[in-house]
Amino acid sequence: MRVPKAALWSVAAALVVTTAGCGSTPETVAASPDRGTIGIAMPTTKSARWVGDGDSMVKQFQQLGYRTDLQYAQDDVQAQVSSLEKMIEAGDKALVIGAIDGTALKSVLSKAAAAKIPVISYDRLIRDSSDVSYYASFDNFKVGVLQATAIVDALGPGEHTVELFAGSADDNNAKFFFDGAMSVLGKEISSGRLEVRSGQTAFAKVTTQRWDGAVAKKRMQALLAGPYKQTRVDAVLSPYDGISRGILEALQEAGYGQGGPALPVVTGQDAELESVKLIASGSQTETVYKDTRELAKVAVQMTNSLLTGGEPEVNDTKQYDNGVKVVPAFLLQPVNVDKSNYERVLVDGGYYTAAQLAG
Ligand code: GAL
Repeated sequence: MRVPKAALWSVAAALVVTTAGCGSTPETVAASPDRGTIGIAMPTTKSARWVGDGDSMVKQFQQLGYRTDLQYAQDDVQAQVSSLEKMIEAGDKALVIGAIDGTALKSVLSKAAAAKIPVISYDRLIRDSSDVSYYASFDNFKVGVLQATAIVDALGPGEHTVELFAGSADDNNAKFFFDGAMSVLGKEISSGRLEVRSGQTAFAKVTTQRWDGAVAKKRMQALLAGPYKQTRVDAVLSPYDGISRGILEALQEAGYGQGGPALPVVTGQDAELESVKLIASGSQTETVYKDTRELAKVAVQMTNSLLTGGEPEVNDTKQYDNGVKVVPAFLLQPVNVDKSNYERVLVDGGYYTAAQLAG
């Protein structure tokens, strides 16, 4: 029986990717063909997670015989557009994009489509473009549900104050996280059990441009100097660890912790090393862990099957309407991490070493 060469490579590829995601290196990797270059455009190196995503994808693509061109645009939308243009001009076989502004890529992606270059939207949905082939992400609504549930559980019975922060308005994920959180907190707020003293409960009022911790810190400072001048804030919904660190700084500078009122419940996302240390020391309450090695694996598999004539596996064909089309997605499950389970999940799971957390 003759088996097509492409099919053989997909099988070999799948085997290699499976082991790569588990952090082990296969002893021998069959000599791979040169299968061209994959352009990987990530938002920024300022947040540790994107560095992890980029490195994991490079490793996994290379194991399949692809070359990679990994570019970070340091949150500069125009710089990301320019590097995508270069990738298209260079004849890259596929593009994997973690967008900075999910609404700003329509025109550059039409050039990719004209050159028949498939596009994988990575973690963040690219909006307003029909030229997005697939979406690899996590269950983003559930991220918010986990954060809000952590708040409700940690506060316990009685009445409490809470303030809400959301991510960058130009990132499609930000609204999903917020909606997920409000699916839990909304009823607590309308019943009066939770009070948002600032009155700022609308998404548009609580976003944080570019997920910037310094921007969040300023808003928290204003809240502490205003509605919380006389009253304690009991919980803060934060969508991402970098924002949580800004919020915690504002709280500590205003006297929370260190002998003052106890720090409020503060949530987060990404299990960034600095923030996991804050969870271990009791300053931050929880984070939502999303294993970037697994996300990389999904994106690599999607890309590879597109390039070898296969059909990428998806598990959601409804939720992610980008304004032009519903983008077929594979969504991984996020995990709630707090003081009780961070060692088991993150250290036993090989995401961090005990030495990194102690350092
Ligand atoms: C989101 C992503 C989060 C977090 C945030 C800030 O799009 O889903 O995990 O990384 O960006 O970088």
